[in-house]
Amino acid sequence: MTDNDTKPRALTLLGLGDMGTALARTWVTAGHPMTVWNRTPGKAQALAAEGAAVAASPAEAVTANTLIVLCLLDDASIGAVLDGVDLTGKDLVNLTTGTPAEGRDRAAWAEERGARFVDAGIMATPSMIGVPEAGGYVFYSGSRALFDTHRTTLEVPAGARFVGEDPGYAALHDVALLSAMNGLFAGISHAYALIEGEDIAPEDLSPLLSEWLGAMGSFVGDAAERLTSRDFTTGVVSNLAMQVAAGGTLLRTAADQGVSAELIEPYLQLLKERLDADPAAHSGEDTAGAITLLRRGPGR
Ligand SMILES: NC(=O)c1ccc[n+]([C@@H]2O[C@H](COP(=O)([O-])OP(=O)(O)OC[C@H]3O[C@@H](n4cnc5c(N)ncnc54)[C@H](OP(=O)(O)O)[C@@H]3O)[C@@H](O)[C@H]2O)c1
Repeated sequence: MTDNDTKPRALTLLGLGDMGTALARTWVTAGHPMTVWNRTPGKAQALAAEGAAVAASPAEAVTANTLIVLCLLDDASIGAVLDGVDLTGKDLVNLTTGTPAEGRDRAAWAEERGARFVDAGIMATPSMIGVPEAGGYVFYSGSRALFDTHRTTLEVPAGARFVGEDPGYAALHDVALLSAMNGLFAGISHAYALIEGEDIAPEDLSPLLSEWLGAMGSFVGDAAERLTSRDFTTGVVSNLAMQVAAGGTLLRTAADQGVSAELIEPYLQLLKERLDADPAAHSGEDTAGAITLLRRGPGR
């Protein structure tokens, strides 16, 4: 069968938590013959009523189909579930969140067992699965041949973005985006804490925050260009010396408001570190120059 065939392909899904159940439901609804397995069998009942076959064991579920999708809690649970199961000739798609190193190790593990492998990082919540207008998608990396074979099936629950044959790259993209999100959430948390107890309603600050953060989105592309060119000084409109001075204002305001600065202080400290290292060289820089200080080791 080629990927252009319109007949929905059969697949197996291991793991019916919130995410696994949402994924399985979109495939069943789209007419894909599905075999599912979950450690706690009761979670498969609703899907069985919708047409999924429920396997009694991971081995039985894996035997049923070539395409095997994993959506378990973490990498350790994959080892627990598939230990001793024959994976020869199988195509494993791992939607379980993990680190890049876990993705690479799992790819080697799958290859040793005669299986093709792609790792994945889901950029969606369960409520966004099967809802194209919600904008969720999944990063994939590893075996390009596997991805091309099953792309149409993989795109049923959410959009698919292949980011390279290095099986660690899906997780690396996933973690990069989630890390940025956490920094954003930290800043938003600090902003709301600053106005707590004042005569400013969070609902009134909310649209201002959204608008401001949207306007600051241009930093993302600007920083990328500077990191590639290593030019941190051309066309700078908010220079580092000014940003460090303004950072002092942020910290003094936090103290005056009785708010811990623990969520914003590390970033402001990094900017100061960059400036102090060589004020003459760095005072006119863009803040993107401070990114170069973050790598503390050689990496893998
Ligand atoms: N939910 C989200 O918003 C979201 C978004 C993006 C990515 N993800 C990722 O998707 C994966 C699943 O998330 P989820 O929301 O479905 O989590 P969940 O609701 O907590 O479900 C976890 C699943 O893993 C199974 N499991 C855990 N430990 C196991 C073990 N030792 N052996 C066998 N099965 C085990 C659970 O089985 P039992 O039912 O028997 O406990 C359940 O099927 C995670 O890696 C998560 O990071 C989730």
